[in-house]
Amino acid sequence: MKNNIEEYMKRIDDVILSHLDGGHVSGTITEAGRYSIKSGGKRFRPYLLFAALDAFSTPLERGLKTAGAIEMIHTYSLIHDDLPAMDDDDLRRGNPTNHKVYGEAAAILAGDNLLTEAFQLIAGDEQLDPATRLEVIRIISNSAGHNGMIGGQMLDIEAENREISFEELEKIHKYKTGRLISAPVHTALVIAGAENHTASHLLSFSEYLGIIFQIRDDILDVTGDVKVTGKNTGSDARKDKVTYVSTFGLEGAKERMEQKVSLAEAELDAVSGTIDVTELKNVLNRFAIRDY
Ligand code: IPE
Ligand code: IPE
Ligand code: MG
Ligand code: MG
Ligand code: MG
Repeated sequence: MKNNIEEYMKRIDDVILSHLDGGHVSGTITEAGRYSIKSGGKRFRPYLLFAALDAFSTPLERGLKTAGAIEMIHTYSLIHDDLPAMDDDDLRRGNPTNHKVYGEAAAILAGDNLLTEAFQLIAGDEQLDPATRLEVIRIISNSAGHNGMIGGQMLDIEAENREISFEELEKIHKYKTGRLISAPVHTALVIAGAENHTASHLLSFSEYLGIIFQIRDDILDVTGDVKVTGKNTGSDARKDKVTYVSTFGLEGAKERMEQKVSLAEAELDAVSGTIDVTELKNVLNRFAIRDY
């Protein structure tokens, strides 16, 4: 069903942008939100959601708005992450950061709007019955809130300029990045009606993937090419962040990442007899997770 996923990936921007166009009170909010969405990004989380639905042969249409909503929340997290009070970055997705273009107040509000309107998008998703919509909202808000990305972002900020243990580092990665990467898999499992055994392996897969993704991001902050990543290198060192690279060095970070990739693949192998994990395996290759 690979071509089908590509077709749905093309529809993600339309779903988000047409929802944002429904804002008729402030043109600035609509414009600032459109700016960060249209800047691009890999759309890793939507792809992951579609790949997980594909494993169950569930129509991708049923996940389209959920995928759009998760990408909206992810984009809001990036707008706020770049603010002067947080990582203070100037470049995102190959363009000046939102606050550099629209000012801090509009960037904060544009982020708040993407977060809030994401739930509006799911609440009105007629592809899902009301109970499923509620469960999807519950999972996503839990992944984004104090026991998810927000909690992790706060730990990340509080860990600046000090030594932290490896356990604390893993905890930061698990929450600030991991939870919003588990969310596409978790919501797909609910939409597909997966049974418990399969669901628990795929959730473990998604948890490894979240850590893998942030280790790679830490590596790219040192070795990345701005033309590819769309963001400047050296942000972590400038803010004195503790990362996998600052803790284990480049080679050590890569080794640890490879160990987690093997663990993630083993979770997929454990269920490959009952579902088709081809696209989920492709997630690791498609986003060149091993190409750093
Ligand atoms: C960057 O996420 C921030 C992290 C959580 C590591 P992505 O690498 O998915 O950013 P985009 O969406 O491609 O811009
Ligand atoms: C951010 O981690 C995770 C988020 C929740 C946005 P980083 O601060 O390392 O992400 P980048 O490198 O700025 O994309
Ligand atoms: Mg950050
Ligand atoms: Mg940052
Ligand atoms: Mg980073």
